[in-house]
Amino acid sequence: MSDDNLKSISKISTKPLRIAVLVSGSGSNLQVLIDAMQAGALPIEIVGVISNREDAYAITRAKDAGIPVAVLSHVASGKRMGIKTFETHASAQLTAWQPDLIVLAGFMRVLSGAFIDNTPAPMINLHPALLPAYKGLDTHQRAIQAGERLHGSSIHVVTAELDAGAVLTQALLQVNQKDTAESLQARVQKLEHQLLPWTILLIVKGVITLSSQASNHQSAYLPTLPFKLFFEN
Ligand code: GRF
Repeated sequence: MSDDNLKSISKISTKPLRIAVLVSGSGSNLQVLIDAMQAGALPIEIVGVISNREDAYAITRAKDAGIPVAVLSHVASGKRMGIKTFETHASAQLTAWQPDLIVLAGFMRVLSGAFIDNTPAPMINLHPALLPAYKGLDTHQRAIQAGERLHGSSIHVVTAELDAGAVLTQALLQVNQKDTAESLQARVQKLEHQLLPWTILLIVKGVITLSSQASNHQSAYLPTLPFKLFFEN
């Protein structure tokens, strides 16, 4: 990712932010962005969706909204598409769409450092835990087992190290005694549906400038990242 790309994201003014979304599953977060775009609530244009699973419901959501979809299934014709092949196709597709921002919303493949370093736009990921705690999978179950009182979701910059890039925003909730992994997942997902559009708005408005992640500070006048959202649900 060049410096020019990083800088360009804070220069967006009247033109909608061009967003590409990578998905693997239900796509409820994609739907929130589609709804916000269609309602004119967020100045964004979803220029394309890439799915690595051909059975992802997110594909239907994108197609229903008239958004171009590239299905790069990792089990194409019964034969597993290697990550390198996936990345070659994904890279070409992203370059063609020319996004300002790439959003991983429930995308379940681990991407290589070479791919991440060369994306045509900054890339952010939605992770269902309060990073840096609980990187990786089964976050809700692990949080319950550890007796956590607080849990939630984070949006972070994607870097070569898994779930380790600078955290931009977080949504928090209190873990109830009766919570199961399933109930926590549902409650966290409700938060994510607010966190994702809110974070993108902060990027569009230039409150979060992705070029300043190295220091993890916005400016002398703004609080240190991550910005936190606390909802009762
Ligand atoms: C979200 O909970 C996200 O945190 C995780 O995958 C889920 C995607 O949900 N990475 P959806 O496909 O947007 O419904």
